[in-house]
Parts: sequence; C-alpha cells; structure tokens
Amino acid sequence: MANNSEFSSKIGLIAATVGSAVGLGNVWRFPAETQANGGAAFLLVYVICVLLFGIPVMLGEFAIGRAGKSDAIDSYRKLSPGKPWWISGFLGILCSYLILTFYMVVSGWTLEYLYQSLSGELFTPIPGVEEGSNLQFADRMQEYVAGIWPPMVWTWITITICGAVLCMGVQKGIERVSNILMPLLFLILIILCVTAMTLPKASEGLAYFFHPDFSKITPDVCISALGQAFFSLSLGMGTLITYGSYFKKDTNLTKTAFTVSILDMLVAILVGMIIFPGVMSFGLEGESFGGSALVFVTFPEIFNRMWCPQLWSSLFFILLSVAALTSSISIAEVSIAYFSNHFKMKRIPATCMVLIPLVLLSALSSLSNGVLSDWTIFGYTIFGACDAFTANILMPLGAFIMAVYLGWFAPKGMMKDQLTNGGTIRNRLAGTVMFLLKWITPILIVIIFGASVLMK
Ligand code: PHE
Repeated sequence: MANNSEFSSKIGLIAATVGSAVGLGNVWRFPAETQANGGAAFLLVYVICVLLFGIPVMLGEFAIGRAGKSDAIDSYRKLSPGKPWWISGFLGILCSYLILTFYMVVSGWTLEYLYQSLSGELFTPIPGVEEGSNLQFADRMQEYVAGIWPPMVWTWITITICGAVLCMGVQKGIERVSNILMPLLFLILIILCVTAMTLPKASEGLAYFFHPDFSKITPDVCISALGQAFFSLSLGMGTLITYGSYFKKDTNLTKTAFTVSILDMLVAILVGMIIFPGVMSFGLEGESFGGSALVFVTFPEIFNRMWCPQLWSSLFFILLSVAALTSSISIAEVSIAYFSNHFKMKRIPATCMVLIPLVLLSALSSLSNGVLSDWTIFGYTIFGACDAFTANILMPLGAFIMAVYLGWFAPKGMMKDQLTNGGTIRNRLAGTVMFLLKWITPILIVIIFGASVLMK
C-alpha cells in the first residue's frame, strides 16, 4: 500500500534530502562567507567541519527521526519519555520557524528576479544611470526588493507554491517535486560552471578559491565555517529528524548522509567556481559580497558583461529559485509534521496553520515600508540578526545538545541499531561515528566558541 508518510524510493529520498540541503546557503551564503573569511582558507575549514561535525550530526538526526518515527519533538519524547531532551527538538522547531520568516521572503525576491530576467527588464538601462555602471543593478535591487507590493506579492507566490507541494504530502508532494527539480538544478549548475571556465581570468579566480593562506584561519573563521556547514547541511533544526522519520527501515543511513553531504559540498564548490572567475574576470574583486549584493548585484553584473545576459541570468535564477523552494519546503515541513503528529491534524489545516502567519508577517513587513526590515539589533538588521543568531548560535547549540544526548543519554544501542539497521548490515564506521558524537563534536564546539569569545 502506498504510504504517503514515507519516501518511496532511494533516489526520491536522496533528491528530497539534497533538495533541503542545497539552498540559498550554497548559492548565496557560501560565496559571501568565503569572501568575508579569507577565500580558500575558509573553504578548507568548511570542508573539515562538514566531514568532522556535519556527517556525524546528520547521522544522529536521521537516527533519532527513524527510531522515534515522529516529528522533531515527539521523536525525543518517544525515545526518552519523561526526560527533557525534547527541548532540543523544540529549539529546532523554533529556529526553523525563525529562518522560514526570512527564507520565504528571499525566495520571493529570487522568483521576482527570475521573472525580470526572463522578461529582459533586469537588463534594460535605467534612465539617468550611466550604462554599465554598478549602480544599474544596485538601483534595480532597490526597486525590486525595497518596494512595497512586488516583494510582498512574490513572497505570497512562494508561500503558495510551497503550500501546494506541502499539502500533497511527503511522497506525492515533496518527493515527486524534488525528483524533477534536483536533476534540473545540477544540469544548470554544470552549464554555468563550464561557461565560467571560459572567462578570461578564470584561473585567477580558481587560485583565489583553491589556494589557502593558512594565516587567515582564526577562531572566528572556524565559527563561521561551522555555522556555514550546519546551515548548508540543514542541521540543528529538526529538518533531518523529520525527514529521517520518512526513511524506510532498510535505508542505509551512513551512505545517505555521505551522499547528501558530498553533493551539498559539491554544489557550494561549483558555485564558487562560477562566481570567483566571474569576479576576477570583470574586475569586481574589490566589491563586498555581503548581504543581498552578491546574488542581486554581483551576479547580474557578471552576466551583463557576457554575451546574452538574459540567458545566463535566467538560468541562474531558475537555479536559485529551485534551490530556495525545495529548502523552504523542508523548513516548513518541520512545523507541519509537528502539528499534524502532535495535534493529530490533517496535512492541509496543519500546512495552513504554519504558512498563514507568514503571509501576514510579510504583509506587515512590507506595509511598514521597510521600517521592520531596517530595525537593527546589536548592529545587525533583523535579517542579519536572524541569520547570524540561528546559524552561528542556535544550530550549533542544538547540535551540541543532540550530540551529548546521543553520546551519553540515548537508549543503549539505539544509535548502533540505526547505523546497522538492526544488525542486518555491516557498518565499519559505526564506532567512529559514536566516538565523534560522544567526544569530538561537543568538545570542539565548546573550544571553538570559547576561543572566539576569549579573542573578542
Ligand atoms: N540548507 C539550506 C540552505 O543551504 C537551508 C536550510 C537550513 C534548510 C535548515 C533546512 C533546514 O539554504
């Protein structure tokens, strides 16, 4: 019998999980963080963080989800009844909802840019602005992103698309859409990467990206790389606990975690291989990529200097929209799974309950005419604060609690059972994973945080 709360095939399961992992974090956040944190040195620390922390924590989340067969909170409750570990799941859901509030908005901007690229409007000269100058795209961004109605309507369109997929359920919605969109994403990525290699200063860009200067590795760079690894792999937010609960009994968790992490890193690296050659070739290296400038100003700048800007820009924004939509879906699924499990709600009302407040919030934010989004907390805008707080603090904290739980307090043998499918498959890495979760992950998270606080 078809079971709409399980992924039906291996490919579908990988596509959906990669769909969650590959998002704005890979295409937008990764190059900006790389530039802000010393280029190749950041890439190196990031890869180490993925291998040393990311994969074990991902396995931990899969295991909790599949063993508990429930949402991020109730899985902990089922595994350790009466104990407070479910708080880690609660933090995850909270964090995922915070992220969703800005993730959906940015996904809306992406769709708007896709529309403007397809229609060619993005590249039409703005009266009064000198053609070919930077201001062209900075002004466009002001017009599209800082306006009142368009960003709000595009956010609503995003919410509606995600809502429609989510209402259809795990197998018929999430899995089916991922099966179509993920191959498309990889295809576009490869086309853009091959094209970037033909740019005049491609090799300089690659050297910046791949030759590390070890003196640039500081505790802050390590925290940012750790935050990036967590964000990019969708960890610490209950997403992969939720997806893990949709895995079948015979899914090989270790193979899945390696496949997903490597594909996710590959996407980030391919994006680096597009942006850095572009930046070097067109003399944009002095510009800051921070904030929204990277995808909405720097990328269009690069495309504008290539032949047929509209084509490259459209391909890029299809890529970005696909990445953003499949990740948004997975972030919303965390809360939807919780409501439908815990309160025994049907999928459609649970989906509405999660998404309608976002519709209202986006209206409030747009109609406040930027007041809300311009607010600053500790020198960060609301977006910046949400991003830094969730990726650099809440997500590693959630992972810390989860590693301590799995290493020391979870039911005996649960993790091993999950890693070996109840002893039916051999898993040479099971001991190493347990050792990493018990000792290395919690200790290194504390050391990295301690060092960064002491250096301030
Ligand atoms: N991994 C996604 C990205 O890189 C973001 C995400 C975080 C999705 C947490 C789900 C959960 O954009």
